[in-house]
Amino acid sequence: MIKIKRILITSALPYANGSLHLGHLCSTYLPADIFVRYHRLKGNDAIYVCATDEHGTPIEINAKKAGLKPEEFVKIYRKEHAKDFKDMGISFDIFYHTHSEENKKFASLFFKKAKEKGSVYTKKVELMYCPKCARYLPDRFLKGTCPKCSALDQYGDSCEKCGATYQTSDLTGAYCAICKTKPEKRTQDHYFFRLKQYEKDLKKWLTTNRRIQKDVKNYVLNWIKEGLKDWDITRTGPYFGFLIPGETNKYFYVWLDAPIGYISSTAKWAETHNKKWENYWLDKDTEIYHFIGKDIVYFHFLFWPALLMAANFSLPTNIPTRGYLTVEKDKMSKSRGTFILLRDYLDRFPPDYLRYYLTSVTSNNTTDVDFSYLDLQAKVNNDLSDTFGNLAHRVLTFTCSNFQSKIPTCARLNKKDKDFDKKIDILPQKVGTLIEKVELKKALEELMDFARECNRYFNSNEPWKTIKEDRDRTKTTLYLSLKAISQLSVLMEPFIPSISKDLQKTLNIKNPKWEKITVKAGAKINTPKPLITKITDDDIKEDPFSALDLRAAKILSLKDHPDAEKLYVIEITLGKEKRQLVAGLREHIKKEDLQGKNIVVIANLEYAKLRGIESQGMLLAADNGKDVAVLTAEGAKPGESVRAEGIPGKPAMKIKFSDFLKIEMTVTKTHQIAYKNSLLKTESGKPVSADISEGAKVR
Ligand code: 2FM
Ligand code: ZN
Repeated sequence: MIKIKRILITSALPYANGSLHLGHLCSTYLPADIFVRYHRLKGNDAIYVCATDEHGTPIEINAKKAGLKPEEFVKIYRKEHAKDFKDMGISFDIFYHTHSEENKKFASLFFKKAKEKGSVYTKKVELMYCPKCARYLPDRFLKGTCPKCSALDQYGDSCEKCGATYQTSDLTGAYCAICKTKPEKRTQDHYFFRLKQYEKDLKKWLTTNRRIQKDVKNYVLNWIKEGLKDWDITRTGPYFGFLIPGETNKYFYVWLDAPIGYISSTAKWAETHNKKWENYWLDKDTEIYHFIGKDIVYFHFLFWPALLMAANFSLPTNIPTRGYLTVEKDKMSKSRGTFILLRDYLDRFPPDYLRYYLTSVTSNNTTDVDFSYLDLQAKVNNDLSDTFGNLAHRVLTFTCSNFQSKIPTCARLNKKDKDFDKKIDILPQKVGTLIEKVELKKALEELMDFARECNRYFNSNEPWKTIKEDRDRTKTTLYLSLKAISQLSVLMEPFIPSISKDLQKTLNIKNPKWEKITVKAGAKINTPKPLITKITDDDIKEDPFSALDLRAAKILSLKDHPDAEKLYVIEITLGKEKRQLVAGLREHIKKEDLQGKNIVVIANLEYAKLRGIESQGMLLAADNGKDVAVLTAEGAKPGESVRAEGIPGKPAMKIKFSDFLKIEMTVTKTHQIAYKNSLLKTESGKPVSADISEGAKVR
């Protein structure tokens, strides 16, 4: 193991523009958290820094859509992310944000230093401009027909159908993705960062650095070999970001100030902890680790180190890079319902189960990783519970019932005991070396192999037999088994912190350290509680309700169906979109009683034609055989999702009418709507109700 002076660890900054999902956790937050927890246990001066990434066009546009100022919009995600991370056991020393005074100051400093080095220049660029939206359109906000395969509605930079990449100007029939207007070409002066100037130094840094993963290093070196293009660091307003010093409507591109957020967040932390940020970013002996996903390699291996070089800051020691997460072997996708938010997971299982599982399948490279609840169940039940949890439980309960909850004295060691004892002692070194190389999967495997070894040791010594004939033998077995699980309780902590802490509590271990453990004969232990509850088949079964995407909606207008006397044609808004529904309510409810109502609709039902008119979803109504009443959500915002409490959502996969028929919802005494034992509520907590007798069925 290497002596470390100081170590700074970062995770890619999550955009304040959407909820965290399992992919985020797997690629950056979890490995970085394991790494920093290890270093803290080693007693190293280690900090883990993160922040929300708050600038850029998508955030600015989404804030507008939500009717909020970007400053207010990003705060919603700051809070949500912080809570998700905390509940996942991600132990940042600071979780700050890029829209901060500190970050503005550092961004300007970097710009100034780069200018002084001659690394910044201005150049005229031709851009696409939407006259209706009065904004320049970045690639993702421009759509058109792919010049290679003629697929319609492709983004400005690449085609999802044929995979071709091209210049925005090559797109045929380009239109603004926001308002569909045909854009104009306009010329603007932009600031560029001379990335080319750094080719040699970047190559040298990459080839001399011995920590960086080989797979990534090779393709980054290839990019350099092909020649790097200078980097456009300007965006024109409207934009949410920092104004470029001296400009009135030109902003730094989000990717300039985002990584600088690593520094400004360190500075914010240092200020409140009586430390100096300079010690982390200017001292060549400080190690810097950026944990990232493979989608942002270019930024972290080229732009970022070049910026650091321009400003004379320290370069990264390592940039551990992970692949994508697939769910059941498929790309995570909202429309297929395979998109798992961290919150969805946390609503169902403890954080450590996921931490264990993901670590056990994620190698130190950029290969994609697959998640499935079935695999989670297998890993948790077979490894975590049977191998680790049960071992601890058996050793502890045996000690409690036979030795008055005291660690017995170690009487005499035979050869097998001595070998086992040695294995316990070398474990911290063995596993630590792997963690320092970011070989987290291997480190965890080493620990689980050791747990299996402990099981063998305990079983082959048969303490339940020897207790009757050879008490000294039993004592030795127990002493060493207790020592082994004590060691494991500390070394497992980075991986499964909350389970490990529980075990440490039972063992009365305070201030654990990553080193050879010593246990004292005669010391008291506490009554053990089972550490791990197995995942049952029922636990992983999806409730059919999860597949429903129910939304609050507002009726805008309604008219009679021209060809069906029982049907209305209803125009509704879902906040972000308008839709048309066809509903058989004409015999039961008057138009004026429906007009303007806040109703509930199934938003992901396959569209169907009813007597020649398309119904783009279905509104929910309750029926008692005599009357019919629509379900309403008073005070809900159109578009808010509606869920049954405690049943996680699995949004947006299209469902069939026959799927819906399997779900039984009824009206309660208080006119609310129940599914099984849960009441329906909107995201903001508004109840759903129907003005009809108890027991009426929703259909
Ligand atoms: O790709 C992303 O999600 C970015 N928000 C990551 C930024 S990492 C750092 F450079 F700020
Ligand atoms: Zn437009």
